[in-house]
Amino acid sequence: MDGFVGRTGEGRALLLAVRAGRSVVLVAPPGYGKSALLEALHPALKEWSPVVWVDRVAPFGAFLKEVFAGLWEARVPVPGVSYTKDLRADLKGWSKQHPTNEEKARSILEALRAWNERGASRVTLVADDASGVTSSMVPWLVSFAEEATLVLAAYPETLRKAGTKRLWARFERVDLPPLTPKESRELVEALVARYGVVAEDPEVYKSRVLALAGGIPGEIERLVRFVRAEDIVKNRDVGTGYAEGLAHREERGVALAPVLLVLGGVAIATRYLGLARGEMDLYVMGGIGVAAFVVLSPWLRKAVVVK
Ligand SMILES: Nc1ncnc2c1ncn2[C@@H]1O[C@H](COP(=O)(O)OP(=O)(O)OP(=O)(O)O)[C@@H](O)[C@H]1O
Ligand SMILES: [Mg+2]
Repeated sequence: MDGFVGRTGEGRALLLAVRAGRSVVLVAPPGYGKSALLEALHPALKEWSPVVWVDRVAPFGAFLKEVFAGLWEARVPVPGVSYTKDLRADLKGWSKQHPTNEEKARSILEALRAWNERGASRVTLVADDASGVTSSMVPWLVSFAEEATLVLAAYPETLRKAGTKRLWARFERVDLPPLTPKESRELVEALVARYGVVAEDPEVYKSRVLALAGGIPGEIERLVRFVRAEDIVKNRDVGTGYAEGLAHREERGVALAPVLLVLGGVAIATRYLGLARGEMDLYVMGGIGVAAFVVLSPWLRKAVVVK
């Protein structure tokens, strides 16, 4: 891919596992570049074996249909299907023949088995988002992993989902960390050139982007593409990105939010208490408190946005 940086070690680990027939789970939070890495490895995977590429594993019925379509396109025959030249028609016929997910899954499993018996290299089944996996899919995915090499992208919390441990135990795990500062800079330079960003002081702009993004490629891209250079340099609220979320947690932002909420609640209660008791002072104080809360909370939210 044009402008793709880093990930050589992770890419190599993934390809080595696939070539050894081991299924892989690619693990990282959103925006870390799981999809980008899989895209970049797609040609190498295709060279190795037929690749069936699907977007996500859930809902399971849609996933199974996508797998059928992928097998169809990779010319891996599904037993019992009389092939025409029309994928949509064949998919429809197959769905009708196998109305439940269970029957569909069994049919796909049979196709993979028959393919392996022919001695061809195992199918590589890539799912760009496995975060929707549920415990009821696990037995099927385990069976698929016996007949094909699965490559799934997931979030760290996906691996902790109830009833999925048994699945992940069979997978090799490849983690994507944030990019190194050097790789991040390379990416910023490439994106600044691609999107023609104009900043008064390009160096200041770039180092601000780097500081805000914390090595997360998706965040670097979001900042360069969608946030005005001026806002980044002038330290304005640049929206809710991953990096900003992290920065918040490290500062007073999180501590302030509940405090503000409690103070707002106290102000409202004071107002009602004043009203109930007929004490005008209390009522006015509560009102002032509510007004202060309304004015201050957005202002404070901005004030604690990254240094
Ligand atoms: N190594 C990289 N080099 C250049 N650009 C990258 C790299 N990794 C990711 N990107 C870019 O960052 C953006 C986010 O990456 P991507 O969509 O792959 O993240 P993801 O981990 O798949 O996120 P999600 O979990 O939300 O699907 C994309 O636009 C992608 O092109
Ligand atoms: Mg993705």
